[in-house]
Amino acid sequence: ELSPIDKAKFVAAKRAADFVEDGMRVGLGTGSTAAWLVRSLGEMVREEGLKIRGVPTSTRTAQLAREVGIEVISLDEARWLDLTIDGADEFDADLNLIKGGGGALLQEKIVATASDRMIVIADIGKQVETLGAFPLPVEVIPFGWRTTQALIEEMLISMDVLGRSTTLRMNGDRPYVTDEGNHILDLHLKRIGNGRQLALVLNQMPGVVENGLFIDICDMVVVGYGDGRVEIRD
Ligand code: A5P
Repeated sequence: ELSPIDKAKFVAAKRAADFVEDGMRVGLGTGSTAAWLVRSLGEMVREEGLKIRGVPTSTRTAQLAREVGIEVISLDEARWLDLTIDGADEFDADLNLIKGGGGALLQEKIVATASDRMIVIADIGKQVETLGAFPLPVEVIPFGWRTTQALIEEMLISMDVLGRSTTLRMNGDRPYVTDEGNHILDLHLKRIGNGRQLALVLNQMPGVVENGLFIDICDMVVVGYGDGRVEIRD
């Protein structure tokens, strides 16, 4: 028996899998919700003969996709994708997102941007009125990361945010290292007034590789509830 939260993630993933058709090149997201999607697609490949090629957004997802029988190709082989399905940490009424809680935001944003369509799958707990309660992940180059952190904190003072503290994401007693060999700063902003502007300003700073704000990238959110209901937002 699944817990309500896992049930919500599962039913959202299951519904989103219905949008996947034969011949598609599909971006495969990262995280616990996206893992349900990858397992569902694997089942469709094995049992219904669904023919797809998947582009994973992390080494974790690549491994899972292979395990469940999905043909994995690189983004450079695919070049562009029909559809990407991924989880999110927060989504708002405009379908803007915070992603990167699982640390894969860079590949996730590259893959989603290369796709004709991005569908997010999420339990209802991820829905927010204003983005920012979830700490915003920012991927930074290890070189001089403390200086980059200081620059970001200085910049935040001039932005419409409530919180300004930033923390280096850790993995035990060492800095967390992304698939690309970078670190992640989590920005505790509480409330992001202007996500579009913040995303642009962050990405202009030397040392910043990418940020977890997905603005105007997502086309549809499939929302799952603990009782098995599913709602579509688009
Ligand atoms: C991974 O880097 C993230 O963007 C995930 O999509 C996000 O953290 C959602 O993860 P869960 O589905 O595990 O909540």
